[in-house]
Amino acid sequence: MDTSLHGRQALVTGAGSGIGRGCALALAAKGATVIATDIDLATAEETCEQIRAAGGVSDALPLDVAEDSAWESVLATVRERHGAVTVLVNNAALKASVAGDRGLLDSSLEVWDRVLATNLRGPMLGARRVLPDMLAAGTGSITMMTSTAALYGISDFATAYSSAKAGMIGLTRTIAATYGVRGVRCNAVAPGVIMVGDDSASQEAFQRATGGLVERTGVPADIAETVAFLSSDAGSYINGQVLVVDGGITAHMPGLSRSQDS
Ligand SMILES: NC(=O)c1ccc[n+]([C@@H]2O[C@H](COP(=O)([O-])OP(=O)(O)OC[C@H]3O[C@@H](n4cnc5c(N)ncnc54)[C@H](O)[C@@H]3O)[C@@H](O)[C@H]2O)c1
Repeated sequence: MDTSLHGRQALVTGAGSGIGRGCALALAAKGATVIATDIDLATAEETCEQIRAAGGVSDALPLDVAEDSAWESVLATVRERHGAVTVLVNNAALKASVAGDRGLLDSSLEVWDRVLATNLRGPMLGARRVLPDMLAAGTGSITMMTSTAALYGISDFATAYSSAKAGMIGLTRTIAATYGVRGVRCNAVAPGVIMVGDDSASQEAFQRATGGLVERTGVPADIAETVAFLSSDAGSYINGQVLVVDGGITAHMPGLSRSQDS
């Protein structure tokens, strides 16, 4: 099975940091032309430079995923410079900790609206804008970056974030069900706890607290390699699925099956 992405134009949202940057680098390493987008252009440009330094092809553009007109103009620019997008990674998100997204009675409606705009409306707009070109080409792959927070509740935290991430799964399946027969696949990847910084002490604390079954912390490359595989022909029989990449956190009940200090 071919894992190469030569000849593909891949757009990654939130590519200026963490998992998004990891996805951009992994897709480029497989041969895709990568359009690194982020609401923070300077960080997307850094990603783009890293790809070029490694011998890949990349361009950086500013994109606030919640803005439909921004999607329209970014995709027009990409079409003109590189050709139509055939791989979309809907990765950008507003994190619950950043948004002040807590329990339902402890968060404002403004927080709910802001989180839903970026984390659910954004991916929907992206898919809606790339689908016509993908359908015209008869091929395409859309990956939604959801979260294990869509599958399991976290007390007093991330009400809007978890709801948006669960919504992405419904969106994934309806896109797959509607457009799969016309060559466009749509899957979701659900990371567990992925360390995007390099603070090893807090990484170890996270590892213990989350009850993962793999004795190391998750890193962006774990997610990025999964996304690259799904985007390639090697993933061509996978459609409408949610791939959980969490080191086994959701495979068991941590409080019951594993001593926290073992
Ligand atoms: N890190 C984890 O443990 C983890 C776990 C589960 C799911 N995820 C998901 O993975 C994805 C990436 O997470 P990360 O940890 O790398 O986060 P991060 O905060 O490091 O990166 C998010 C990126 O998205 C960008 N962004 C924010 N709002 C935007 C907007 N409106 N438009 C465009 N870009 C915007 C930010 O500038 C940033 O570069 C997110 O969808 C997140 O929900 C992460």
